[in-house]
Amino acid sequence: MTISGKELADSIIGRIASEVEDYHVRFGRVPALAVILVGEDPASKVYVRNKTRACERAGIRHIEITLPEDTSELEILENIEALNADPSVDGILVQLPLPAHLSESHITGAIAREKDVDGFHPLNVAALWLGRDNAKIEEHYPVACTPRGIMRILEAAGVDPAGKRAVVIGRSNIVGLPIAKLLLNANATVTICHSRTKDIAEITRQADILVAAIGKPKFVGAEMVRDSAVVVDVGINRLPDGKLCGDVDFEAVAPRASVITPVPGGVGPMTVCSLMENTIDCYLRHTAKRKKRKI
Ligand code: GUN
Repeated sequence: MTISGKELADSIIGRIASEVEDYHVRFGRVPALAVILVGEDPASKVYVRNKTRACERAGIRHIEITLPEDTSELEILENIEALNADPSVDGILVQLPLPAHLSESHITGAIAREKDVDGFHPLNVAALWLGRDNAKIEEHYPVACTPRGIMRILEAAGVDPAGKRAVVIGRSNIVGLPIAKLLLNANATVTICHSRTKDIAEITRQADILVAAIGKPKFVGAEMVRDSAVVVDVGINRLPDGKLCGDVDFEAVAPRASVITPVPGGVGPMTVCSLMENTIDCYLRHTAKRKKRKI
């Protein structure tokens, strides 16, 4: 079964759009997301455009701040401070990667925790690693978008990770580590593989659920996958002919897998969809707090 992340994301964004209309009537304003893009990275420009288009479909107001490649850290921090202090802004995102002279940890750590729609703030990361119940974590704190989207895909495919052997290839802060923790919270037995793992195929062949987030085109071949495995492909790589491909060799692996996500149209749209959900969650927490304070 090939899971269309695009169809799933479209249906969730459609539901969000009707909820937003209702929130607008009830609370007098729509949710707002600020997106900061620094520099000219072509892939980042595409991702930001996808995010702002999704905001338009969801009825979420979006504020785009585009800054030149040589912007100083101080200037970015000043922009973030202004957005942190603006009560009409619910979510703030700085598109990564940043130009080399900028510190990703300084910048993502400067976003107010309660507006951190990416779930990158150290306290939100800590909440994920200290919590054990994914539903409760999502209710109180934002969780990184791609991992949240992957859990949605598994749910939609009827895959319960409990008791299953999950193998994650990749240990990034954005995907590998948080998806490993969400799968662990969902009671899977989790192994994280990475570029220094020896005999990686021997480990991946044991996976009931295999998440490939290593950033190498078609890295996962049929010989690395057991029969009937659930295969989630996080990679977005551009081949020399300009076509996109994932970290999984889809044609080779699909006949073996019980569930597989395609690239494009799999995890990517679900990442954007989770961003919309995180923005709504931040808006609702924000609105509830303001109501409590009678502002
Ligand atoms: N770059 C690649 N993935 C992401 C993401 O999920 N959020 C941000 N801010 N930048 C990214």
